[in-house]
Amino acid sequence: MSKTRILVTGGTGYIGSHTTVELINAGFDVVIIDNLSNSNREVLDGIEAITGVRPAFIEGDVNDLSTLDCIFQAYPGIEGIINFAASKAVGESVQKPLLYYRNNLNSLMNLLEMVEKYNVKGFVFSSSCTVYGEPDVNPVTEESPIKPATSPYGNTKQISEEIITDTIRSGANFNAIILRYFNPVGAHPSALIGELPLGVPQNLIPYLTQTAIGIRKELSVFGNDYDTPDGSCIRDFINVVDLAKAHVIAVKRMIEGKSLDCIEIFNLGTGNGVSVLELIDTFESATGVKVPHKIVGRREGDIEKVWANPKKANEVLGWVADTPLADTMVSAWKWQQHLAEKKS
Ligand code: WQD
Repeated sequence: MSKTRILVTGGTGYIGSHTTVELINAGFDVVIIDNLSNSNREVLDGIEAITGVRPAFIEGDVNDLSTLDCIFQAYPGIEGIINFAASKAVGESVQKPLLYYRNNLNSLMNLLEMVEKYNVKGFVFSSSCTVYGEPDVNPVTEESPIKPATSPYGNTKQISEEIITDTIRSGANFNAIILRYFNPVGAHPSALIGELPLGVPQNLIPYLTQTAIGIRKELSVFGNDYDTPDGSCIRDFINVVDLAKAHVIAVKRMIEGKSLDCIEIFNLGTGNGVSVLELIDTFESATGVKVPHKIVGRREGDIEKVWANPKKANEVLGWVADTPLADTMVSAWKWQQHLAEKKS
């Protein structure tokens, strides 16, 4: 029996590459399109080393409709799309809003055109807890109010969800599953793929591991005067492999016609709120490696505390993010060490 073919946009990126591994492990045939603006081709070597399979890869931009058309012609029978390709740096989006609106929204609309033209059954969209803004109540459920976005990046996620919803409501014949990620962290246990920030990392974990290995002198903790037990911000740090597995379940759900509604939304988190300072402690005790850090002023736009109620995903998808945070910290550290070995 031929394998079910899935198009993964942004498939050489952090979450895209881990999801590609899990899709291949689950028996899917994966086609990746990525413009390598925030990743590199070597990620394909890691995917192949882990799975024994090198996915089809097209270096291209999802904003280019003709490129997409060529892919659907060259790889017939694509039944599902998982859309990771998007610009995702919160701070950069404030500096370059037009780049974010054009890239993230135009690419999505191109893909939705392909869904209709080539009768794709299922569309998985990579969304974010950022749509909840600063929640009034934690943990947040899928019914928690959507707050006005605090950045163009967050706004593109909110608008994207609306574009998908309106397209389906117009009668388009496909199902969509929107996955709202909390804070993806860690790396594949093989240490052959992981988070590859280009330049100075904006996110906490890559900056933390680069500090632990000596690339950065000191980690700045952005504020300890928040209304939290230790004063630092609280997040729901979810293991990237646990997160990837949810995508496989989601795409299977739609292809097998098990969706309860033509559009479903799920929070992907652990349900545990962990502070920045607690995370540093967890890393240090799990790895035995100290992370020099100092408290500095707050970072503009930061949410004080947000963590998920993952009950809906647990019960409806039968999925749980259960990797212990300590193990996730070890995986992040092993990946950083792997990067250092590659450089030496
Ligand atoms: C986490 C916490 C910082 C760096 C954003 C997006 C989200 C997703 C992940 C794309 C905050 C603190 C950070 C540092 C620090 N984006 N921090 N020192 O902002 O929660 O989420 O990135 O997929 O959609 O909103 O993630 O890792 O930047 O910050 O103290 O050097 O760590 O203040 O409290 P964030 P983050």
